[in-house]
Amino acid sequence: MNYEYRDGQLAVEGVSLASIAASSGTPTYVYSAGMIRERYLAYEAAFAGMPHQVCYAVKANSNLAVLATLARLGAGFDIVSGGELFRVLKAGGNPATVVFSGVGKTPEEIRFALEHGVHSFNCESYAEIDVLNHTAGLCGKVAHIGLRVNPNVNPITHEYISTGLRENKFGIDSSAIDAAYEHAASQPHLRVTGVSCHIGSQMLDPSPMVEAVDRLVTLALRLQAKGMPIDHLDLGGGLGVQYQPNESTPSITSSLAALRALVEPTGLKAVVEPGRSIVAEAGVLLTRVLYRKNNGGKEFVIVDAAMNDLIRPSLYKAFHDIVPVSTLNRPHMQVDIVGPVCESGDWLAKSRTLPELASGDLLAVKTAGAYGFGMSSNYNSRGRAAEVLIDGAAFQLVRARESWDDLLRGECLP
Ligand code: LLP
Repeated sequence: MNYEYRDGQLAVEGVSLASIAASSGTPTYVYSAGMIRERYLAYEAAFAGMPHQVCYAVKANSNLAVLATLARLGAGFDIVSGGELFRVLKAGGNPATVVFSGVGKTPEEIRFALEHGVHSFNCESYAEIDVLNHTAGLCGKVAHIGLRVNPNVNPITHEYISTGLRENKFGIDSSAIDAAYEHAASQPHLRVTGVSCHIGSQMLDPSPMVEAVDRLVTLALRLQAKGMPIDHLDLGGGLGVQYQPNESTPSITSSLAALRALVEPTGLKAVVEPGRSIVAEAGVLLTRVLYRKNNGGKEFVIVDAAMNDLIRPSLYKAFHDIVPVSTLNRPHMQVDIVGPVCESGDWLAKSRTLPELASGDLLAVKTAGAYGFGMSSNYNSRGRAAEVLIDGAAFQLVRARESWDDLLRGECLP
């Protein structure tokens, strides 16, 4: 299943994108439920026959309909805030399958998670261990925790999304991890049941993950030998997806086979936290051409989506393939595709060769299902885009486009 041209129209499952633009307008994020299920089930299949829990990383795309699609398949969830847990609960997710990650959980968020009985917390510092213990005591609960190890392994990705190096703020340095476990294990309201890591995102080569998991296994066995009740290994997320048309990406199945080979002999439960590899390719951002403009010989195509809708190109210089929604038999030209926001950094693509575009043409920004809508903002007082979910031959508006009244919600005159 994929986005492909049928009779000259870009379509996925049984729906053409032009029909969505006609009914929901632009800019609109479009997601394929079928593709999301397919990717999730590839994770499930990779661990079939051994104890495991696939915890979808909510931050990648937290739309309720996306979460509900996964919850109905029995997915677990990786969350990094109370707000994400609130969404998971509203989507029908089971809190007993939720792992709570992140470097800055507040006591209120911890309490909310404890009250709902989340599976475990991935804890990232001594200070957090103490707050977790104290909060669990106040709630009359025992919190199940794992410590997130910073294994100092280079994930070979963009510096902003590398998390497993000593210079990154994440995890507890491997040289201090045993002492941190001893400290956690001595707290009355904590039970140390896990070991976790997440070294980075958009990894096109899974071998750094294999190296990190190898270290995780050694640590888990050492802690078990000290009598700690370790029962799961959380391997994090991070598998890369195809952004460039001819980029070769690791398959979910083969990458996980290498990780499974390390974990299965331990008898421990494998937890994974994939985000991007489940939703990125399942989503596109639909946008319409507003104007063409030539500035001193440089061709610009101004579209109605902007950096506030999809910040990845501006923030990471990320490449997203952009294609016309209808095949256009026109001469090709080189253009920059830019949005209406008042910043030169507001671009979606630079120096792309595309058929000559005209006002009203529809474009699809591909591989936009992860870290697209979730990172969008109201900059320049632009309402956030609509979101549509396709499932088979049907599609549904799963988030209405924000109105001008929505922009003012919570504000008042002095
Ligand atoms: N687990 C933890 C603890 C994480 O921090 C992340 C992502 C994941 C799992 C999911 O990783 P994934 O499978 O999606 O690679 N905004 C950036 C990506 C930031 C990733 C942050 N952490 C982007 O647009 O590329």
